[in-house]
Amino acid sequence: MTVESVKPETPPAVELREPPRAGGGVPVLGHGWKLARDPLAFMSRLRDHGEVVRLKLGPKTVYAVTTPALTGALALSNDFIIAGPLWESLEGLLGKEGVATANGPRHRRQRRTIQPAFRLDAIPAYGPIMEEEAHALTERWKPGETIDCTSESFRVAVRVAARCLLRGEYMDERAERLCVALATVFRGMYRRMVVPLGPLYNLPLPANREFNRALADLHLLVDEIVAERRASGQKPDDLLTALLEAKDDNGDPIGEQEIHDQVVAILTPGSETIASTIMWLLHMLAEHPEHADRVRDEVQAVTGGRPVAFEDVRGLRHTNNVVVECIRLRPAVWILTRRAVRDTELGGYRIPSGADIIYSPFAIQRDPKSYERNLEFDPDRWLPDRVKDIPKHAMSPFSVGNRKCPSDHFSMAMLTLITAALATRYRFEQVAGSKDDARVGITLRPHDLLVRPVAR
Ligand code: HEM
Repeated sequence: MTVESVKPETPPAVELREPPRAGGGVPVLGHGWKLARDPLAFMSRLRDHGEVVRLKLGPKTVYAVTTPALTGALALSNDFIIAGPLWESLEGLLGKEGVATANGPRHRRQRRTIQPAFRLDAIPAYGPIMEEEAHALTERWKPGETIDCTSESFRVAVRVAARCLLRGEYMDERAERLCVALATVFRGMYRRMVVPLGPLYNLPLPANREFNRALADLHLLVDEIVAERRASGQKPDDLLTALLEAKDDNGDPIGEQEIHDQVVAILTPGSETIASTIMWLLHMLAEHPEHADRVRDEVQAVTGGRPVAFEDVRGLRHTNNVVVECIRLRPAVWILTRRAVRDTELGGYRIPSGADIIYSPFAIQRDPKSYERNLEFDPDRWLPDRVKDIPKHAMSPFSVGNRKCPSDHFSMAMLTLITAALATRYRFEQVAGSKDDARVGITLRPHDLLVRPVAR
């Protein structure tokens, strides 16, 4: 057979299938009531209906993707962008010109601006601040007192993000104000998401006033931070300088609104996600004392008894696996959405242009097809000889592709260091009144976790 005799074949046109419809919808609300009532269980059960499943949320058809491979394909495809009701409501409150909600050329340009601040080789410069904040937390807490994990976790998350990325002495006091403003704004945004009462949120009720004050203070704080940096004439090597010096595609400085929205777009995802994860780590330390002890033993072996430092993080293998396993079972970002920008397909299923697609890292990371003893807390599943059995994209809590979280290295370094510092100093117990069930909001976190540190 010669090469010439082989006729180039046109690939047969693949018949795209219509995704199956999930069962259990009701008239008018469709699957919306199930999603609202128990979102984690609902999203987890969808895998029983198929790889891509059609849902009715009110009058709207939404597509859910349920396998690791297809969530990877979705995140890596150019046929889908960031858009949809969740993003639109966030834009209304937090600004339209930040990196988290932009698409296309603006998004690519913004990622180029912020990326250097998060590169692996930029992280050691944040080490001293991360160390200081981790140890300050253990100093603040006294053995036997009750710790309100929500406010304490939020506080350390905001302080680290603000002090590392928007450097400057003045940040200490500002970090506290940011903390109060962001905590109230997130609480209010969650309420507006789950109970969408529209104009009722404009009434001059105390809760609405408090929300509006916090939102206004958040925007004011960001303006103050930007103005003060400009007035100082200083240009430290940080994210704020990168934003202030950024140029648009024509080489002109970017506008004031974009600088403002960019700072908000980095601080807001940066604080809520880390805070939620620290809450789950505290919960894990209290509920799995055997792993808390192993973390303590590992830290002591690596440090020889001195306070744990940023440089130690690389040697803290088990502590890192504990953090990863905690994120697997309790991912702060539990749901993600995309919108199709053209008629396309996923796994041979037809997805029409304009369709909204959802998937849940929570459901993917607990799938028994991907994980043996899927609900068991087992940090050793991340040991090199076992990790190879885990399918690709079955553990992508920071996502993949062009929207991947820029802060994966930053976050893992901070979380590992904090876990090491906490487990070395204290054991933790939950106290009466603690509510450790998952509260599903913009992120996933415990309802109201209260713990008591016990000196080691
Ligand atoms: C985006 C997770 C911490 C800044 C994302 C995305 C995920 C994620 C899954 C992608 C969203 C999507 O695909 O739609 C997490 C987790 C964190 C964390 C699990 C911690 C445990 C942080 C921190 C910062 C940050 C500390 C900043 C200080 C951002 C930004 C984006 C983003 C700016 C938008 C990126 C873009 O759209 O290009 N994050 N994140 N995140 N994250 Fe994180």
